[in-house]
Amino acid sequence: MPESLTKLTYQTFQQGKNYFGLAHKILSSRLRNLVYPTLEQKTKPIPNELLLKLQQRLNQLLETDWQDAQKGIYPESLLFDNPWDDFFRYYPLVCLDLPETWERVQQQNYQNFSPEIDTDGYPSYYVQNFHHQSNGYLSDLSANLYDLQVEILFGGAADPMRRRILAPLKQGLKAFESVAPRQTRILDVACGTGRTLKLIRAALPQASLFGTDLSPAYLRKANELLSQIPGELPQLLQANAEELPYLDNYFHTVTSVFLFHELPAAVRQTVIEQCFRVTKPGGVFIICDSIQLSDSPDLEYMMDSFPETFHEPYYKHYTTDNLLERLQKVGFENIEMQVHFMSKYFIAHKPA
Ligand SMILES: C[S@@+](CC[C@H](N)C(=O)[O-])C[C@H]1O[C@@H](n2cnc3c(N)ncnc32)[C@H](O)[C@@H]1O
Repeated sequence: MPESLTKLTYQTFQQGKNYFGLAHKILSSRLRNLVYPTLEQKTKPIPNELLLKLQQRLNQLLETDWQDAQKGIYPESLLFDNPWDDFFRYYPLVCLDLPETWERVQQQNYQNFSPEIDTDGYPSYYVQNFHHQSNGYLSDLSANLYDLQVEILFGGAADPMRRRILAPLKQGLKAFESVAPRQTRILDVACGTGRTLKLIRAALPQASLFGTDLSPAYLRKANELLSQIPGELPQLLQANAEELPYLDNYFHTVTSVFLFHELPAAVRQTVIEQCFRVTKPGGVFIICDSIQLSDSPDLEYMMDSFPETFHEPYYKHYTTDNLLERLQKVGFENIEMQVHFMSKYFIAHKPA
Protein backbone atom coordinates (compact mmCIF):
# COMPACT_ATOMS: atom_id res chain seq x y z
CA MET A 1 0.00 0.00 0.00
CA PRO A 2 1.43 3.47 -0.82
CA GLU A 3 2.64 5.34 2.29
CA SER A 4 0.05 8.11 2.04
CA LEU A 5 -2.76 5.55 1.89
CA THR A 6 -1.41 3.66 4.91
CA LYS A 7 -1.21 6.92 6.84
CA LEU A 8 -4.75 7.85 5.88
CA THR A 9 -5.96 4.38 6.92
CA TYR A 10 -4.23 4.78 10.29
CA GLN A 11 -5.68 8.25 10.87
CA THR A 12 -9.16 7.13 9.84
CA PHE A 13 -8.99 4.10 12.12
CA GLN A 14 -7.92 6.26 15.04
CA GLN A 15 -10.59 8.89 14.39
CA GLY A 16 -13.13 6.08 14.21
CA LYS A 17 -12.03 4.87 17.65
CA ASN A 18 -12.20 8.43 18.94
CA TYR A 19 -15.79 8.85 17.71
CA PHE A 20 -16.73 5.45 19.07
CA GLY A 21 -15.35 6.40 22.51
CA LEU A 22 -17.23 9.70 22.40
CA ALA A 23 -20.48 8.02 21.35
CA HIS A 24 -20.12 5.44 24.13
CA LYS A 25 -19.51 8.17 26.73
CA ILE A 26 -22.47 10.29 25.56
CA LEU A 27 -24.89 7.36 25.34
CA SER A 28 -23.87 5.80 28.64
CA SER A 29 -24.10 9.10 30.53
CA ARG A 30 -27.57 9.79 29.02
CA LEU A 31 -28.70 6.35 30.08
CA ARG A 32 -27.23 6.86 33.55
CA ASN A 33 -28.99 10.22 33.92
CA LEU A 34 -32.24 8.54 33.01
CA VAL A 35 -31.81 5.79 35.60
CA TYR A 36 -30.08 7.93 38.26
CA PRO A 37 -31.20 11.53 37.63
CA THR A 38 -29.48 12.63 40.87
CA LEU A 39 -26.07 11.87 39.31
CA GLU A 40 -26.68 14.26 36.41
CA GLN A 41 -25.62 17.55 37.99
CA LYS A 42 -22.40 16.00 39.34
CA THR A 43 -20.80 15.66 35.90
CA LYS A 44 -20.07 18.79 33.88
CA PRO A 45 -20.13 18.70 30.06
CA ILE A 46 -16.88 19.59 28.26
CA PRO A 47 -16.98 23.07 26.63
CA ASN A 48 -16.65 23.11 22.83
CA GLU A 49 -13.36 25.04 22.72
CA LEU A 50 -11.82 22.41 24.98
CA LEU A 51 -13.04 19.63 22.71
CA LEU A 52 -11.33 21.42 19.83
CA LYS A 53 -8.09 21.71 21.78
CA LEU A 54 -8.24 18.02 22.65
CA GLN A 55 -8.77 17.13 18.99
CA GLN A 56 -5.67 19.18 18.06
CA ARG A 57 -3.59 17.45 20.72
CA LEU A 58 -4.86 14.06 19.54
CA ASN A 59 -3.94 14.89 15.93
CA GLN A 60 -0.42 15.86 17.04
CA LEU A 61 -0.07 12.60 18.95
CA LEU A 62 -1.13 10.56 15.92
CA GLU A 63 1.31 12.45 13.70
CA THR A 64 4.19 11.74 16.13
CA ASP A 65 3.07 8.10 16.34
CA TRP A 66 3.14 7.82 12.56
CA GLN A 67 6.52 9.58 12.27
CA ASP A 68 8.16 7.36 14.91
CA ALA A 69 7.01 4.28 12.98
CA GLN A 70 8.47 5.79 9.78
CA LYS A 71 11.77 6.34 11.60
CA GLY A 72 11.83 2.61 12.39
CA ILE A 73 11.49 3.01 16.16
CA TYR A 74 8.78 0.35 15.93
CA PRO A 75 7.17 -1.54 13.06
CA GLU A 76 4.33 0.17 11.21
CA SER A 77 2.15 -2.89 11.86
CA LEU A 78 2.02 -1.85 15.53
CA LEU A 79 -0.15 1.10 14.53
CA PHE A 80 -2.84 -1.36 13.46
CA ASP A 81 -2.59 -3.69 16.42
CA ASN A 82 -6.19 -3.64 17.61
CA PRO A 83 -7.42 -6.41 19.90
CA TRP A 84 -10.63 -7.01 17.91
CA ASP A 85 -11.31 -10.38 19.57
CA ASP A 86 -11.39 -8.71 22.97
CA PHE A 87 -13.50 -5.87 21.60
CA PHE A 88 -16.27 -8.15 20.34
CA ARG A 89 -16.06 -10.45 23.36
CA TYR A 90 -15.94 -7.81 26.08
CA TYR A 91 -17.72 -4.70 24.82
CA PRO A 92 -21.15 -6.16 25.70
CA LEU A 93 -19.79 -6.93 29.19
CA VAL A 94 -18.52 -3.34 29.58
CA CYS A 95 -22.11 -2.22 28.91
CA LEU A 96 -23.63 -4.86 31.19
CA ASP A 97 -21.34 -3.75 34.03
CA LEU A 98 -22.56 -0.13 33.83
CA PRO A 99 -25.67 -0.45 36.07
CA GLU A 100 -23.57 -1.94 38.90
CA THR A 101 -21.10 0.92 38.46
CA TRP A 102 -23.84 3.57 38.63
CA GLU A 103 -25.30 1.98 41.76
CA ARG A 104 -21.91 2.23 43.49
CA VAL A 105 -21.50 5.86 42.37
CA GLN A 106 -25.00 6.64 43.65
CA GLN A 107 -24.16 5.10 47.01
CA GLN A 108 -20.69 6.68 47.02
CA ASN A 109 -19.32 3.22 47.62
CA TYR A 110 -15.78 3.21 46.28
CA GLN A 111 -14.29 0.24 48.11
CA ASN A 112 -16.79 -2.40 47.12
CA PHE A 113 -15.54 -5.95 46.56
CA SER A 114 -17.47 -9.20 46.05
CA PRO A 115 -17.15 -11.70 48.94
CA GLU A 116 -15.14 -14.11 46.75
CA ILE A 117 -12.43 -11.49 46.15
CA ASP A 118 -9.55 -11.78 48.59
CA THR A 119 -8.40 -8.27 49.47
CA ASP A 120 -6.05 -9.37 52.27
CA GLY A 121 -2.43 -8.34 52.03
CA TYR A 122 -2.90 -5.48 49.58
CA PRO A 123 -2.05 -1.92 50.63
CA SER A 124 -5.21 -0.08 51.72
CA TYR A 125 -4.69 2.64 49.07
CA TYR A 126 -4.96 -0.09 46.42
CA VAL A 127 -8.24 -1.65 47.58
CA GLN A 128 -10.39 0.80 45.63
CA ASN A 129 -12.79 0.67 42.70
CA PHE A 130 -10.44 2.74 40.55
CA HIS A 131 -12.35 4.02 37.49
CA HIS A 132 -15.43 2.61 39.29
CA GLN A 133 -14.31 -0.81 38.07
CA SER A 134 -16.22 -3.68 39.65
CA ASN A 135 -13.80 -5.40 42.08
CA GLY A 136 -11.10 -2.81 41.38
CA TYR A 137 -8.02 -4.50 39.94
CA LEU A 138 -8.74 -7.79 41.64
CA SER A 139 -10.94 -9.85 39.33
CA ASP A 140 -10.47 -11.59 35.99
CA LEU A 141 -13.49 -9.76 34.62
CA SER A 142 -11.90 -6.43 35.54
CA ALA A 143 -8.68 -7.49 33.78
CA ASN A 144 -10.64 -8.51 30.69
CA LEU A 145 -12.53 -5.22 30.51
CA TYR A 146 -9.67 -2.87 31.46
CA ASP A 147 -8.04 -2.29 28.06
CA LEU A 148 -11.37 -1.65 26.41
CA GLN A 149 -12.37 0.79 29.16
CA VAL A 150 -9.08 2.67 28.75
CA GLU A 151 -9.52 2.71 24.97
CA ILE A 152 -12.98 4.26 25.42
CA LEU A 153 -11.66 6.78 27.97
CA PHE A 154 -8.85 7.97 25.66
CA GLY A 155 -10.77 7.56 22.39
CA GLY A 156 -8.37 4.89 21.13
CA ALA A 157 -5.23 6.87 22.02
CA ALA A 158 -3.98 4.70 24.91
CA ASP A 159 -1.44 2.73 22.85
CA PRO A 160 -0.24 5.79 20.86
CA MET A 161 0.44 7.42 24.26
CA ARG A 162 2.18 4.30 25.60
CA ARG A 163 4.30 4.15 22.42
CA ARG A 164 5.85 7.52 23.27
CA ILE A 165 8.11 5.74 25.74
CA LEU A 166 9.71 3.72 22.93
CA ALA A 167 11.86 6.45 21.33
CA PRO A 168 13.47 7.54 24.65
CA LEU A 169 13.80 3.87 25.66
CA LYS A 170 15.76 3.00 22.53
CA GLN A 171 17.76 6.21 22.85
CA GLY A 172 18.58 5.36 26.50
CA LEU A 173 19.80 1.89 25.52
CA LYS A 174 22.50 3.46 23.34
CA ALA A 175 24.47 3.88 26.59
CA PHE A 176 24.73 0.06 26.64
CA GLU A 177 25.66 -0.58 23.01
CA SER A 178 28.31 -3.11 24.02
CA VAL A 179 25.66 -5.27 25.71
CA ALA A 180 24.20 -8.04 23.53
CA PRO A 181 20.49 -7.41 22.80
CA ARG A 182 19.48 -10.63 24.60
CA GLN A 183 21.32 -9.46 27.70
CA THR A 184 19.47 -6.14 27.78
CA ARG A 185 17.00 -6.18 30.68
CA ILE A 186 13.92 -3.96 30.73
CA LEU A 187 11.40 -3.81 33.57
CA ASP A 188 7.87 -2.44 33.26
CA VAL A 189 6.60 -1.58 36.76
CA ALA A 190 2.81 -1.99 37.20
CA CYS A 191 2.58 -3.65 33.79
CA GLY A 192 -1.16 -4.29 34.14
CA THR A 193 -2.49 -6.35 31.23
CA GLY A 194 0.86 -6.19 29.43
CA ARG A 195 0.09 -3.68 26.66
CA THR A 196 3.32 -1.74 27.23
CA LEU A 197 5.43 -4.91 27.31
CA LYS A 198 3.83 -5.95 24.02
CA LEU A 199 4.85 -2.62 22.47
CA ILE A 200 8.40 -2.89 23.86
CA ARG A 201 8.67 -6.44 22.49
CA ALA A 202 7.75 -5.18 19.00
CA ALA A 203 10.41 -2.45 19.18
CA LEU A 204 13.09 -4.66 20.80
CA PRO A 205 12.43 -8.28 19.74
CA GLN A 206 15.48 -9.68 21.55
CA ALA A 207 15.56 -7.83 24.87
CA SER A 208 14.80 -9.65 28.13
CA LEU A 209 11.54 -8.21 29.39
CA PHE A 210 10.20 -8.20 32.93
CA GLY A 211 6.87 -7.01 34.29
CA THR A 212 5.55 -6.60 37.82
CA ASP A 213 2.10 -5.75 39.09
CA LEU A 214 0.12 -6.16 42.31
CA SER A 215 -2.87 -7.75 40.59
CA PRO A 216 -2.73 -11.50 39.92
CA ALA A 217 -5.73 -11.16 37.60
CA TYR A 218 -4.02 -8.49 35.48
CA LEU A 219 -0.83 -10.55 35.36
CA ARG A 220 -2.83 -13.55 34.14
CA LYS A 221 -4.28 -11.36 31.39
CA ALA A 222 -0.79 -10.05 30.56
CA ASN A 223 0.49 -13.61 30.32
CA GLU A 224 -2.37 -14.47 27.94
CA LEU A 225 -1.53 -11.49 25.72
CA LEU A 226 2.25 -11.86 25.75
CA SER A 227 2.35 -15.62 25.27
CA GLN A 228 0.75 -15.11 21.83
CA ILE A 229 3.94 -13.35 20.66
CA PRO A 230 6.68 -15.58 19.28
CA GLY A 231 10.03 -15.35 21.05
CA GLU A 232 11.02 -15.17 24.66
CA LEU A 233 8.15 -14.72 27.12
CA PRO A 234 8.51 -11.70 29.43
CA GLN A 235 8.98 -12.71 33.07
CA LEU A 236 5.95 -11.59 35.05
CA LEU A 237 5.96 -11.32 38.81
CA GLN A 238 3.40 -10.25 41.36
CA ALA A 239 5.08 -7.52 43.39
CA ASN A 240 4.39 -4.24 45.08
CA ALA A 241 6.24 -1.45 43.29
CA GLU A 242 7.23 -0.23 46.76
CA GLU A 243 9.41 -3.35 47.21
CA LEU A 244 10.71 -4.48 43.84
CA PRO A 245 12.10 -8.00 44.23
CA TYR A 246 15.23 -7.41 42.14
CA LEU A 247 18.91 -6.79 42.78
CA ASP A 248 20.29 -3.26 42.81
CA ASN A 249 21.42 -1.94 39.40
CA TYR A 250 19.81 -4.86 37.53
CA PHE A 251 17.90 -3.22 34.66
CA HIS A 252 19.19 -1.22 31.71
CA THR A 253 15.79 0.51 31.53
CA VAL A 254 12.77 0.75 33.81
CA THR A 255 9.40 2.01 32.61
CA SER A 256 6.10 2.72 34.32
CA VAL A 257 2.90 3.64 32.53
CA PHE A 258 -0.22 5.14 34.14
CA LEU A 259 0.79 4.12 37.67
CA PHE A 260 1.80 7.28 39.53
CA HIS A 261 -1.61 9.02 39.51
CA GLU A 262 -3.00 5.98 41.35
CA LEU A 263 -0.54 6.22 44.24
CA PRO A 264 -0.66 8.38 47.37
CA ALA A 265 2.13 11.00 47.43
CA ALA A 266 4.44 9.20 49.89
CA VAL A 267 4.13 5.95 47.91
CA ARG A 268 5.10 7.79 44.70
CA GLN A 269 8.38 8.71 46.37
CA THR A 270 9.02 5.14 47.57
CA VAL A 271 8.34 3.73 44.10
CA ILE A 272 10.71 6.26 42.53
CA GLU A 273 13.39 5.23 45.08
CA GLN A 274 12.86 1.59 44.13
CA CYS A 275 13.04 2.30 40.42
CA PHE A 276 16.29 4.21 40.98
CA ARG A 277 17.70 1.31 43.01
CA VAL A 278 17.05 -1.34 40.35
CA THR A 279 18.16 0.81 37.38
CA LYS A 280 21.77 0.35 36.28
CA PRO A 281 24.10 3.36 36.46
CA GLY A 282 23.83 4.99 33.04
CA GLY A 283 20.34 3.52 32.61
CA VAL A 284 17.10 5.35 32.11
CA PHE A 285 13.78 5.38 33.98
CA ILE A 286 10.74 6.48 31.97
CA ILE A 287 7.41 7.48 33.49
CA CYS A 288 4.30 7.93 31.36
CA ASP A 289 1.31 9.26 33.24
CA SER A 290 -1.38 11.90 33.14
CA ILE A 291 -0.69 15.51 32.21
CA GLN A 292 -0.29 17.88 35.18
CA LEU A 293 -1.43 21.44 35.84
CA SER A 294 2.08 22.86 35.35
CA ASP A 295 2.35 21.64 31.75
CA SER A 296 -1.30 21.86 30.65
CA PRO A 297 -3.04 24.68 32.59
CA ASP A 298 -5.51 25.01 29.70
CA LEU A 299 -6.83 21.52 30.50
CA GLU A 300 -7.44 22.27 34.18
CA TYR A 301 -11.15 21.74 33.60
CA MET A 302 -10.55 18.13 32.53
CA MET A 303 -8.16 17.47 35.40
CA ASP A 304 -10.71 18.86 37.86
CA SER A 305 -13.56 16.62 36.74
CA PHE A 306 -11.51 13.46 36.10
CA PRO A 307 -11.07 12.21 39.71
CA GLU A 308 -14.77 12.37 40.50
CA THR A 309 -16.02 11.06 37.18
CA PHE A 310 -13.58 8.13 37.24
CA HIS A 311 -12.92 7.65 40.96
CA GLU A 312 -9.24 8.45 41.14
CA PRO A 313 -8.65 9.33 44.81
CA TYR A 314 -4.96 10.35 44.43
CA TYR A 315 -5.25 12.11 41.08
CA LYS A 316 -5.90 15.63 42.39
CA HIS A 317 -2.68 15.63 44.37
CA TYR A 318 -0.86 14.02 41.44
CA THR A 319 -1.80 16.92 39.13
CA THR A 320 0.27 19.35 41.23
CA ASP A 321 2.92 16.94 42.48
CA ASN A 322 6.49 17.88 41.61
CA LEU A 323 7.72 14.59 40.17
CA LEU A 324 10.82 16.27 38.80
CA GLU A 325 11.88 17.14 42.35
CA ARG A 326 11.04 13.62 43.53
CA LEU A 327 13.21 12.12 40.77
CA GLN A 328 16.10 14.49 41.51
CA LYS A 329 15.82 13.78 45.24
CA VAL A 330 16.70 10.09 44.76
CA GLY A 331 19.59 10.88 42.39
CA PHE A 332 18.20 10.90 38.86
CA GLU A 333 19.71 13.58 36.64
CA ASN A 334 19.34 14.94 33.13
CA ILE A 335 15.55 14.63 33.34
CA GLU A 336 13.63 15.42 30.19
CA MET A 337 9.88 16.06 30.20
CA GLN A 338 7.49 15.63 27.28
CA VAL A 339 3.74 15.99 26.85
CA HIS A 340 1.67 14.10 24.28
CA PHE A 341 -2.14 14.44 24.16
CA MET A 342 -3.28 13.61 27.74
CA SER A 343 0.03 12.15 28.95
CA LYS A 344 3.24 13.46 30.43
CA TYR A 345 6.62 11.73 30.29
CA PHE A 346 9.66 11.93 32.54
CA ILE A 347 12.84 10.50 31.06
CA ALA A 348 15.28 10.31 33.96
CA HIS A 349 18.90 9.13 33.84
CA LYS A 350 20.76 7.38 36.61
CA PRO A 351 24.30 8.80 36.77
CA ALA A 352 26.83 6.49 35.09
C1 LIG B 1 -3.97 2.37 35.46
S1 LIG B 1 -3.30 0.78 35.54
C2 LIG B 1 -1.95 0.86 34.39
C3 LIG B 1 -1.60 -0.50 33.85
C4 LIG B 1 -0.63 -0.52 32.68
N1 LIG B 1 0.66 -0.01 33.02
C5 LIG B 1 -1.20 0.21 31.48
O1 LIG B 1 -0.45 0.87 30.77
O2 LIG B 1 -2.39 0.07 31.20
C6 LIG B 1 -2.46 0.79 37.08
C7 LIG B 1 -1.80 -0.54 37.38
O3 LIG B 1 -0.97 -0.34 38.51
C8 LIG B 1 -1.06 -1.47 39.34
N2 LIG B 1 -0.66 -1.02 40.68
C9 LIG B 1 -1.22 -0.04 41.44
N3 LIG B 1 -0.52 0.12 42.58
C10 LIG B 1 0.52 -0.75 42.52
C11 LIG B 1 1.62 -1.03 43.38
N4 LIG B 1 1.79 -0.42 44.55
N5 LIG B 1 2.49 -1.98 43.00
C12 LIG B 1 2.35 -2.65 41.82
N6 LIG B 1 1.34 -2.41 40.97
C13 LIG B 1 0.44 -1.47 41.31
C14 LIG B 1 -2.50 -1.92 39.21
O4 LIG B 1 -2.68 -3.26 39.59
C15 LIG B 1 -2.75 -1.67 37.72
O5 LIG B 1 -2.43 -2.80 36.96
